[in-house]
Amino acid sequence: MMNIKSNTALRHIINISDLSDKLIDQIINRAQHFVEHGYTASLQNRIIATIFLEPSTRTRLSFASAVCRAGGQVISVDQADTTSLTKGESLEDMIKVVSSYADVIVLRHPEAGSAQRAAAVATVPVINAGDGPNAHPTQTLLDLFTIQQALGRTDQLTIGLVGDLKYSRVAHSMAEVLARAQGVTQYWIAPEELMMPDSVKNTLKQHQGRYQETTNLLAALPKLDIVMMTRVQKERFQNPADYERLKNSYILEPEHLTTAQPSLKILAPLPRTEELPPSLDALPQAYYFTQASFGVPVRAALLEYCLAA
Ligand code: NCD
Repeated sequence: MMNIKSNTALRHIINISDLSDKLIDQIINRAQHFVEHGYTASLQNRIIATIFLEPSTRTRLSFASAVCRAGGQVISVDQADTTSLTKGESLEDMIKVVSSYADVIVLRHPEAGSAQRAAAVATVPVINAGDGPNAHPTQTLLDLFTIQQALGRTDQLTIGLVGDLKYSRVAHSMAEVLARAQGVTQYWIAPEELMMPDSVKNTLKQHQGRYQETTNLLAALPKLDIVMMTRVQKERFQNPADYERLKNSYILEPEHLTTAQPSLKILAPLPRTEELPPSLDALPQAYYFTQASFGVPVRAALLEYCLAA
């Protein structure tokens, strides 16, 4: 007999609010353990389905790498047009079926709310690997881990989120979790048209998170401990002309860093377009490739947590 668990007991990760501060600390500490001591076969005999219906390099492959390192197996969809969705199958039907093939489902989907819909019908945990412009909670975990590595803390800091704050799911989840931290001031640096949505602002207000909105990156830069650069999200624009007009709103050049704190770290979820010129890469402030490497230990720790119930 198949053992179908009740939905309420499942450890779905749909938004960063699904993880308490204590759980986030546990996951970060476990990831740190993997970095220092290596992996154990904690996912042995486990099958992880990665269903990616939007492009991905880092998120899908770091999940897959984490599973391999921890002794599990991956089954994978990496193109929507190779699935029965193209025959008209619903996301819900797909998730019900994959629930019987895997022990956890990692889903990336172009629509906001899709991960929630998947969790409503899944009989295994669902991890949101990006639902349209809405949320990207596992990126936030790795971003927090990165900040911990860079500064030795994830509180008492000033951080700039720069670029496409309207459509960047990375920025939305990050802003939300930082609102819960002590002594964090956020600078939201974006063109007027790409400022943070009201839904995120409301969450910040609930947590009494401190933020300032500005269009001026260079004026804010000297105040920052961390600057997180986001790509203008071409695929979310209705009108290509708007993308063309806004795509180069912020380009962080090496000479801009002369006014910055020497300990500043530059983060980015990647991929990059023009906002992060390769001339930055060799500077000590450039931390984005190190950041990307942390996807593996953090996602291994998260999968362990989701499967431990
Ligand atoms: C981000 C995403 O998919 O939202 N990438 C990632 O997961 N590393 C950021 C982006 O695509 O700009």
